[in-house]
Amino acid sequence: MVTSTDCLHSQNWLVNDSGDYIALNLEELTLPEKPYRLYRFLTELEDILDHITDDCFRIQAIMPLVRKLLASSYWLQMEFSEPPIDPGWSVKFLYDEYEFPSTIQMVAWLPGNISPIHNHATWGIVAVVGGQEKNQFWRKVSTLEYPNHIECVGEKILVPGDIIGFTADAIHCVEALGNEPVVTFNLYGETAYHQRFEFDRVTHEAKNF
Ligand SMILES: [Fe+2]
Repeated sequence: MVTSTDCLHSQNWLVNDSGDYIALNLEELTLPEKPYRLYRFLTELEDILDHITDDCFRIQAIMPLVRKLLASSYWLQMEFSEPPIDPGWSVKFLYDEYEFPSTIQMVAWLPGNISPIHNHATWGIVAVVGGQEKNQFWRKVSTLEYPNHIECVGEKILVPGDIIGFTADAIHCVEALGNEPVVTFNLYGETAYHQRFEFDRVTHEAKNF
């Protein structure tokens, strides 16, 4: 599990629609004297989403709050379900309120599992709290024949404390490395499901998922 020191000092990344991954230098945080509780995080999150419409700016405004929340509210890191062998992953919703513009999910993957190549059709922030995951970034390079042709543009191994943000059409896949489950804290905006796709790297086709 990630320690409060990891939470405050690890790296922040932003992946945009072109698959560029950019290191973010966000301001150093200090832990508040009183616990930074989930309900305060949700209130500040709602205010940011009300006032900032650009997803890149939203992510940069929210990311420090995620870091502070995980450093201050250690219990959150334990709120995941052990993933079963089949399918090898689990999702536990920590917060999903009707018409609230974001959800919080704890996702766990058994080592060796690889996600489909996908976009999220909304902004997203993922914080690694356990294990190691390889993120591979892709970019759509449409051709007349294959409008969903994709190419790999890079990869990054994330460790506990690292946080990564995605714009709505950022395309990636994730592989759980090492010997222990990868556990992540995931924050997503409102998903436009008809624009969320799984991409096939061989046929260069995309289908909703
Ligand atoms: Fe994803």
